[in-house]
Amino acid sequence: MFKIIKVKDYEEMSDKAFDVVKEVVDANPKCVLGLATGSSPVGLYQRMIKDHQENGTSYADVTTFNLDEYCGLPKSHPESYYSFMHRNLFSGLNIPEENIHIPEDGEDKEAKCKEYDASMESYTVDLQVLGIGSNGHIGFNEPGTAFDTKTHIVTLKESTRQDNARFFDSIDKVPTHAITMGIDTIMHAKKIIIVASGANKADAIYAMIHGPKTTDVPASVLQDHPDVVVVVDAEAGKLL
Ligand code: F6R
Repeated sequence: MFKIIKVKDYEEMSDKAFDVVKEVVDANPKCVLGLATGSSPVGLYQRMIKDHQENGTSYADVTTFNLDEYCGLPKSHPESYYSFMHRNLFSGLNIPEENIHIPEDGEDKEAKCKEYDASMESYTVDLQVLGIGSNGHIGFNEPGTAFDTKTHIVTLKESTRQDNARFFDSIDKVPTHAITMGIDTIMHAKKIIIVASGANKADAIYAMIHGPKTTDVPASVLQDHPDVVVVVDAEAGKLL
């Protein structure tokens, strides 16, 4: 079930998303958070850091699981999701490093996927933060991904590589593959918040909510989840 919150712009979207995260962390300081990378949650992460630093909200007992990571980039690469998360969130909070989980690429990719699923096995994600791809992907579950997937390796769609090229020197530097939490795992989170801003997300947001449930739009699977908060700015929500 979707609870749709339409706001003016990115800043207001980040404020609303922060309220949702804060409620979960306050209610259970040992909560498990599922986290996303990309531009959409950066404002949310800035607010979490500000709140931690100014109000002392502690993340010492919080555990996190990230959605995905590029294949073929070392952790130290500035655009690896490991670097992104440390730069944009973890460096400003007090989450112990051992509580942080980010999928890892490696020589034996199958083993790395199994390892990530095993690391999640004894946890239930209390709140999963999601962005959405302009093609409707969640995590890096691209259109066509089965709804029953666990952690797996994906070939990134050309549209996704184009969307993410802004972070790299050129399009050929954008990785072609990624490791991602699967759709089945995402759906097991108790609560989900999805944030989207900008006109290029409007079609995907509309299809997620009002379109048929289809693997062509991976986010449409969220129609089956009992508790999804959708925070959209005016442009991303313009078709709703
Ligand atoms: C990131 C992720 C992706 C992004 C999506 C939107 O961990 O899983 O699904 O959320 O590609 O990216 P931005 O926010 O950069 O538009």
